[in-house]
Amino acid sequence: MEKFDILLLGSGGRESALAWKMSQSPLLGKLYIAPGNGGTNAYGTNVALSPLDFPAIEAWVKENGVKMIVVGNEDPLVAGIYDYFEEQDILVVGPSKAGAALEGSKDFAKQFMVKNNIPTARYRSFTAETIEDGYRFLEELRAPYVLKADGLAAGKGVLILPTIEEAKASLKEMLSGMFGASSATVVIEEFLSGIECSVFVLNDGNGGYRVLPVAKDYKRIGEGDTGLNTGGMGAVSPVPFADEVFMEKVRTRIIEPTVKGLINDNITYRGFIFLGLINVGGEPMVIEYNVRMGDPETEAVMLRIDSDLVALMRAAAQGNLGEMELKEDPRTAVTVMVVSGGYPGNYPKGKVITGCDNVNESILFHAGTKIDADGQLVTSGGRVISVSSYGESIADALAHSYASIEKVNYEGKYFRRDIGQDLQKLL
Ligand code: AMP
Ligand code: GLY
Repeated sequence: MEKFDILLLGSGGRESALAWKMSQSPLLGKLYIAPGNGGTNAYGTNVALSPLDFPAIEAWVKENGVKMIVVGNEDPLVAGIYDYFEEQDILVVGPSKAGAALEGSKDFAKQFMVKNNIPTARYRSFTAETIEDGYRFLEELRAPYVLKADGLAAGKGVLILPTIEEAKASLKEMLSGMFGASSATVVIEEFLSGIECSVFVLNDGNGGYRVLPVAKDYKRIGEGDTGLNTGGMGAVSPVPFADEVFMEKVRTRIIEPTVKGLINDNITYRGFIFLGLINVGGEPMVIEYNVRMGDPETEAVMLRIDSDLVALMRAAAQGNLGEMELKEDPRTAVTVMVVSGGYPGNYPKGKVITGCDNVNESILFHAGTKIDADGQLVTSGGRVISVSSYGESIADALAHSYASIEKVNYEGKYFRRDIGQDLQKLL
């Protein structure tokens, strides 16, 4: 098959990992990453384009003969990038705007799940007009209380409140604009208790799909899952409890009804579906849908794909995965995110990063890095570099990542030393 050129949109560790995997494909011509980061140049060429400026992207891809766009994060998808390029003979790996509402609107996602009998927490949605009903619904539930802004809120739109008083006060604040227009509608749902995992499905929109290796991420800044939420501090794949029995339930109760539900509603979806699941006493339930790959799960999951990702993504975008195989690497993969001191609060930028060249037992996926005016690699974000490793077990893979982290240095370096420990306890 002929090689073709691809534009990847995004700048995080997830995009670094996608670029790393894509760069191994014999089908890849040139890879461009927009805007990319201080590490993505190793796999292709960084291009200064905003992922949300569709006309600029259109002009650029036409000029450069790019045939496929891979979208890393949700914003362009929710804004309708698939629909924008549909007419133009340029493939986009991702859902249409209607499909992206599975992430863009939690109320829509819940309605979709109820309609398709997909197991999820009991819920109701409220607006400023129905706030009194919201208070009454809260009284029907038991603590803790889960409140979700309907729209995108940069991963911050979910509040879990321990008391009814705090839940009512937060409902009022959210409906009064705590997350701007995103919280004009609030989903209140039952709290589910269990261990979470992330299941990724590559969907071709015509009934064909492949399930990627399952991962678990670590969201809080502090060890023992304490402190503020972050964009993700580490991930592990595979997830021991996501065994054959569990995954068969995921397939029959969640994936198939999702794939068919989209078709029944005439929603075009040719890309990744991210199922945020929770294991409630052995039964998988959906916490949320996302319409892209996870970060930092991707920085572990890409290591475990033993097939040509470019071929798979193109087939999905063309609506025909056919018999194409997605083989899993049997090894364990982990990633540990190294972040800036102070993150997820305020943190400094521009700290010089040293030692990356000395790392040989891990793969470094750059996230918040850039090359400064003097040509030095410096920090430019909260999450700086994701350190991914293979191993024979979770402990073995982690030992490689932690050894590598010792070699990478910058002022204020921080990381969690307990990634994967909860899963090891289950073994
Ligand atoms: P989300 O932004 O939907 O991923 O929610 C953020 C986090 O809140 C999830 O990863 C869960 O840890 C937690 N969460 C969301 N919904 C629930 C729920 N119904 N029960 C328990 N935890 C939840
Ligand atoms: N790791 C969770 C997410 O990407 O949303």
